[in-house]
Amino acid sequence: MSALRAINVGIVGAAGRGGRLRQAFELLDRVRITAVCDIDAEGLERARRELGAAESYLDYDKMLERSELDAVIVGTPMPLHAPQAIAALERGVHVLSEVPAGVSIEECRCLVQACRGSRASYMLGENVTYTRPNMIVTEMVRRGEFGTPYYAEGEYVHELKGLNEVTKWRRRWQTGINGVTYGTHSLGPILQWMPGDRVVSVCCAGSGHHYRDPRGDEYENEDSCVMLCRMRSGGLVKIRVDMLSDRPHSMMNFQLQGTDGCYESRRAPAQRDRIWLRSRSPDANTWLDPEEVAESFLPEAWRIHGELARTAGHGGGDLLEILDFVDAIRSGTPPRIGIHEAMDMTIPGLISQQSIAADGRWLPVPDSREW
Ligand SMILES: NC(=O)c1ccc[n+]([C@@H]2O[C@H](COP(=O)([O-])OP(=O)(O)OC[C@H]3O[C@@H](n4cnc5c(N)ncnc54)[C@H](O)[C@@H]3O)[C@@H](O)[C@H]2O)c1
Repeated sequence: MSALRAINVGIVGAAGRGGRLRQAFELLDRVRITAVCDIDAEGLERARRELGAAESYLDYDKMLERSELDAVIVGTPMPLHAPQAIAALERGVHVLSEVPAGVSIEECRCLVQACRGSRASYMLGENVTYTRPNMIVTEMVRRGEFGTPYYAEGEYVHELKGLNEVTKWRRRWQTGINGVTYGTHSLGPILQWMPGDRVVSVCCAGSGHHYRDPRGDEYENEDSCVMLCRMRSGGLVKIRVDMLSDRPHSMMNFQLQGTDGCYESRRAPAQRDRIWLRSRSPDANTWLDPEEVAESFLPEAWRIHGELARTAGHGGGDLLEILDFVDAIRSGTPPRIGIHEAMDMTIPGLISQQSIAADGRWLPVPDSREW
């Protein structure tokens, strides 16, 4: 693509989360939101006005057919991510998809095939990998500060029983299936902290059922589901997803252990993240505040856009993922979270659903690179 030509972007699911990405686009030169699409006519018109789009569509296929798009942002409910991404890729339109990449192994396979056959690129919008603390840890790992990372924990604890009734697809696809249905926010950053590694097998168990929906039905998802992930390197990762338990939200809990360093994120707003690095901590038992050493490890994106990113959604992730996506399109380089990274983040959760149904049996996780 010529560096000078504007990039035309369409947003599907624009009346929901897809429309909340305006701030990022305002930063970008020669990128315009050309078209918006949603099946909710009222919300669509509001999104069109707010995003300044020239065109609006109630039908996604029509948007792809009629609008001259270079890229599409898929911000629709979970079961639409893969089919809508595939439809765009088949037309040579770049895709930035909401998480997870798909809701079944079969559609993940189809998505991988579509990427192989397309000149366009695919990126998963795993925005939690872009938060300031998570990117600082990624940079520390890259520079060897953790030695060999071998154990990590990630937790997504977000009570959404009320939201289930407003965005009804959640009741089916997030709390209507047992196992880890929404695990990429927790596994995604951890995979970036174990570069080159991937999950080769998982087992999953749950804490039982203690809540009912407003119709009196038990949620199919157990309240807390824990997935253990065996890494190819032999390392271990523990992921907990809980969307039902009554308690304050805590969606970005992380721990990382390496041979030379250890990181524990804060669990509540009043707390601080803490880190121990053999190379920098005064002794074996003294934690550091990562901010004390942040200057040396702050990635360029946070240096340049930090102020704005802080005011954008999801700890800056919403802004920085779009900047990365557009950079990848402009430069023709692979996106940071391309199709196989997206599969590495998505497939373990799908296999965990089979494991929990098989009484927590360890099951192999397919490698999309072999598909
Ligand atoms: N990355 C994050 O931090 C984050 C945060 C929230 C939600 N999400 C993900 O984003 C997606 C959307 O979540 P949300 O909370 O905005 O949901 P939502 O229900 O509020 O919005 C989805 C929108 O898609 C529209 N839609 C449904 N079917 C459509 C179709 N066939 N064609 C066009 N539009 C259609 C709906 O009318 C709605 O406006 C979900 O997959 C969710 O998991 C990610």
